[in-house]
Amino acid sequence: MEAPYQKSWFKKGQASQKQEGSSRFSKHDQASKLNQLLEDHSVDLDANHKGFVSIVGAGPHDPDLLTVKAVKAIMSAEVLLYDRLVNKDILELASPQADWIYVGKRCGQPSIGQEEICDLMVSLAQQGKRVVRLKGGDPFVFGRGGEEALALVKHSIAYEVIPGITAAIGCSANSLIPLTHRGVARSVTFVTGQVVTGAFEAWSQLMQSGQTLVFYMGLEKSSQIQTGLINSGLREDFPVAIITHGCSPQQQVHVTQLNQLNDLSITLKGVSPALIVMGEVVKLREQLIETVQSVTEYEGI
Ligand SMILES: C[S@@+](CC[C@H](N)C(=O)[O-])C[C@H]1O[C@@H](n2cnc3c(N)ncnc32)[C@H](O)[C@@H]1O
Repeated sequence: MEAPYQKSWFKKGQASQKQEGSSRFSKHDQASKLNQLLEDHSVDLDANHKGFVSIVGAGPHDPDLLTVKAVKAIMSAEVLLYDRLVNKDILELASPQADWIYVGKRCGQPSIGQEEICDLMVSLAQQGKRVVRLKGGDPFVFGRGGEEALALVKHSIAYEVIPGITAAIGCSANSLIPLTHRGVARSVTFVTGQVVTGAFEAWSQLMQSGQTLVFYMGLEKSSQIQTGLINSGLREDFPVAIITHGCSPQQQVHVTQLNQLNDLSITLKGVSPALIVMGEVVKLREQLIETVQSVTEYEGI
């Protein structure tokens, strides 16, 4: 059976075409509706054709999770600067004349630095280009979007920020782990795995009862995360899930408990991207999975 992600509106080079499916709109209605939305694009270049930068959140992998506003910006871009976690199908939405420039990290090779990315963005905008800076998830969640926006402000370049679905939101919903749930979790905290670098003293504040914790970039730091949380009093069998390749046909959800987090991470070494979700909410998945369609398709159950 076809994975749900492939039932995209946005097939390569055919942004307005929708596959046969369950929609209440006909193919024609859907296409004209999308075209109308795209024509209504709110940001126009001014008469002097000054450059403009859209810092755009591409969400977690699945092109169907893009916002309409993001699609509009991508379709009108002259240059796209994109990161490693951006799905290439999303780039295909751009005009055939648009240039794509990869500015992500390269495995085993030196990657372009943050300063160079900012310089490139500024220089393209100063040449009068309409630039889309495309970032995985949301630009302002562990995405350095703020730094890039500051660089544009410094050079008086007009810009906008278009939100994206951040990995914690997209991957947990797609894995049937509600980040909050009445009577189970009243708050959720997003943490970077880098929290463990240096002398991090605040483990007990990080984890309080009735809370969900989501670690971005945490797989490599699992040993310190496990030890830090257990030493601060969190129970050893606290529920944990690791979601790999979230919101893609390769998505996998590995459920374990806190004292086995590091062992599981060792078996997943090198798998990227991966997100760690901790909290009683992880257990809800067992019930929620019973009649859901998309996850059973994803995981071949
Ligand atoms: C540099 S951060 C960027 C986060 C991004 N700005 C966001 O809002 O999702 C990259 C980390 O996000 C998480 N991540 C991003 N996309 C993911 C996905 N599709 N599945 C699982 N984790 C993901 C991983 O922890 C990855 O190491």
